[in-house]
Amino acid sequence: MNLREKTGLTFDDVLLVPKRSAIRSRGDVETSSLLVPEIRLSIPIISANMDTVTETTMAVAMAQAGGIGILHRFMPTAKQAEMVRRVKRAEGFVVEHPVTIQPEANLAEARQMMVDSLIGGLVVVDDEGHLLGLLTSRDILLAPEAGLKVMDLMTPRDKLVVAPVDEALDSARLKLHSHRIEKLPLVDAQDRVVGLITAQDIIKLQEHPQATKDAKGRLRVGVAVGVRSDDLDRAAACIEEGADVVVVDVAHGHAEHVLEMIHQLKQQFPGTAVIGGNVATAQGVRDLAQAGADAVKVGVGSGSICITRIVTGFGLPQLTAVAECAQAGHELGVPIISDGGTRNSGDLVKALAAGASTVMVGSLLAGTDESPGASVIREGRRYKVVRGMASLSANVSRKEIDQGELDLSELERVVPEGVEALVPHRGAVKETLHQLVGGLRSALSYAGAANIDELWEKAEFIRITASGEKESAPHDVKLL
Ligand code: XMP
Repeated sequence: MNLREKTGLTFDDVLLVPKRSAIRSRGDVETSSLLVPEIRLSIPIISANMDTVTETTMAVAMAQAGGIGILHRFMPTAKQAEMVRRVKRAEGFVVEHPVTIQPEANLAEARQMMVDSLIGGLVVVDDEGHLLGLLTSRDILLAPEAGLKVMDLMTPRDKLVVAPVDEALDSARLKLHSHRIEKLPLVDAQDRVVGLITAQDIIKLQEHPQATKDAKGRLRVGVAVGVRSDDLDRAAACIEEGADVVVVDVAHGHAEHVLEMIHQLKQQFPGTAVIGGNVATAQGVRDLAQAGADAVKVGVGSGSICITRIVTGFGLPQLTAVAECAQAGHELGVPIISDGGTRNSGDLVKALAAGASTVMVGSLLAGTDESPGASVIREGRRYKVVRGMASLSANVSRKEIDQGELDLSELERVVPEGVEALVPHRGAVKETLHQLVGGLRSALSYAGAANIDELWEKAEFIRITASGEKESAPHDVKLL
């Protein structure tokens, strides 16, 4: 028998030893960290690519808070690309391809377009894209009949204030304010529409100073892809819409088809960051990095909804996996993402202290308002549904998407490696993130570390016993 001498440890097996600290306040520490060498997050938290965790709304909220969301892949490519588009449009002071409408369209069509695109204004153009007018929700609010034409309802071109394509933020803000308008179309020398600046977007910029943004001021977002031949098309469609990161999402990421996929993605899309995973060993990190991965996701069987370890017997306790992988990651300059098993800010801190740069979180965010999971009431309390992406119900949904209809006999062949579960409803995701980041800030002061790099240097773990673990939680009191 080939048996490792080392004992595998996870979060509850250890505590961090308090250190002499020069940090006076939790406000004096820096929580930023690298997602990939080119992208720094203000907070080291990523929402998991699970269909009960990250779709458009979660991805927007995560990026606004300074983290990032990874859109799951269990949907048709066009839908995933559309989600990327929506995240990219959610903020940023220039809308590059504003939604347009023709002047002959009627009110009902305009209303439908606004609802479908979740926007309050349409730019009216002719066949060549010349600006003819603006139609906002205010123009149509009380319009008497659905058959009215856009051209009769819009504010016409001669009454519009416009700006050139390279309009600066301050100048746009001034124009919007001095004319008391909410939308500023950008036009080229031939008066063709090349963009749109809205007052709403400028206000949002001020609301989220820590937001994770790309060079164009748009929120950043990642997408998960698989390893089938059509997953390259999936990646291409999402990158075309502006996806910043592609995550190759495979439970056993230390596999040759995963290395091949990473290699192909880097060759075809050299400007886009690729994250590989999941692995649990230093060799896994080295191999993925050699294939071209810009960061590596670590965690096999550690997730709250995982039964991989029960079904297959494989996995490594998460803290040991992160520590081993981080050693290799630091040598190679490849950031490590701890994925799975984070139940609270203490776990987040321990994963970072063990060498992770960022932490991916699933169930803990599945209970928030922004997750796409269904809401249910049980005994007067609200819960949301979370499910493993290898659970039986997730397999059913995937087969429905792939095949259009379900052949029930195939389900008998499914061997689930995940479960379906309920998590308590937790309100807005920013509140959960506030608690996690507050805990991290406090932890940095206990470590005497001004930032996460210093935490790596200064962290000292101590292994604890079952009595130590008991002592660590509230004990010998009756909780209110
Ligand atoms: P947490 O603990 O944050 O973990 O909920 C989220 C991570 O769990 C992984 N995941 C799975 N692992 N079977 C597994 O073995 C599954 O069905 C499954 N679904 C998700 C994934 O890495 C996720 O980020």
